[in-house]
Amino acid sequence: MLLTGTGRLAPAGLSPWAIHVRDGRVAWVGDPRDAPGDEARVDIGQALVTPGLVDSHTHPVFAGDRSDEVAARLAGAPYTEGGILRTVRETRAADDATLEGLVEGRLRASLRAGTTTMECKSGYGLSLDEELRHLRIIGRVADRLPMRVVRTFLGAHAVPPGSTMAEYATHVADDMIPAVAAEGLAEFVDVFADAGFFDLEASERIGRAALAAGLGFRLHAEQLARTGAAELGVRLGAAAVDHLEELDDAGARALAASSTVTTLLPAPAIVMRDRLPPARALLDAGGTVALASDANAGTFGGFGTMPLVVGLGATLLGMTVTEALTAATEGGAAALRLADVGVLRPGAAADLVAWDAEHEGAFALRLGSVRSLRAWIAGEEVALSG
Ligand code: NIG
Ligand code: FE
Repeated sequence: MLLTGTGRLAPAGLSPWAIHVRDGRVAWVGDPRDAPGDEARVDIGQALVTPGLVDSHTHPVFAGDRSDEVAARLAGAPYTEGGILRTVRETRAADDATLEGLVEGRLRASLRAGTTTMECKSGYGLSLDEELRHLRIIGRVADRLPMRVVRTFLGAHAVPPGSTMAEYATHVADDMIPAVAAEGLAEFVDVFADAGFFDLEASERIGRAALAAGLGFRLHAEQLARTGAAELGVRLGAAAVDHLEELDDAGARALAASSTVTTLLPAPAIVMRDRLPPARALLDAGGTVALASDANAGTFGGFGTMPLVVGLGATLLGMTVTEALTAATEGGAAALRLADVGVLRPGAAADLVAWDAEHEGAFALRLGSVRSLRAWIAGEEVALSG
């Protein structure tokens, strides 16, 4: 099949363009005049086309509503683990069908808005049985949807009542991670390695257990305080360290020199009225940057907002539009260690989205209001309604 367009193919900036798709993968990209002539053609017309967006940081498994807490926080109340524990109580009380329906709605909203690959964390269970239940639910929903889903076990999201941090971290490392790995329920392990949550010693213990179990490792780091969690991630070979609002320029240069991807999450930074992560310092030092939504129960609730996140990267974080779009596609894929999504080049998956826009600058100009018109995953057009 040959997909063709008279509009822009971004971030490469090709126009007009053609993509030869074979067996769900890109076989060739170039000028339509040089394309193989004997292929069935699907013309997408003038729409802006990009790789499918890759949202490499989300927390979709939860029940309940914490908008009242956000209102209180914006009026001056502090952010503590209490908010997460409230979601944990409400999520534990939700039966499988209810929780599965909530997760499916969130993934569908993301797909409708142009996310074709999505990382989904557990982390509102905080017990072995609950965390396994949440990861299984993500797996069942993923099996019903065409999108690509990567699962992350975030048992170390907060310390459950009745345990100390050290006791719970030992339980996560010694019992929970082996169980998750044995059932093949996740590709990554994540830790909320921040002030008031998990300290560096506990985070390292969990990271080492993840690697010993053959799982990848990623961290929530430097969101609430500058703790050195980002450097811990680099030292352990984490795939990504995420948030980084409190990271300084020296830390940014150290991270940029490593193979750990830095994931920036502008949406919760706004809701939390946090400082902004040093995006320019990371990019100027040659680092690989990803942009992701961090859609979750308590600090940013917007599933299906990756077009907004690209716009925020290009406005609030000082990235160019091309850098922001690349961070939300190729950067997100790098953060998930996926070599074959997020970029339309020969050998990569034919995952692409056509937008109701002419130029990628629309993600900045129309902050949050660029809509996807059509999407293809592995060369198959997917239904965006429903
Ligand atoms: O990524 N930082 C940790 N976890 C989420 C928020 C979780 C919550 O408050 O429910 C985040 O911002
Ligand atoms: Fe998060």
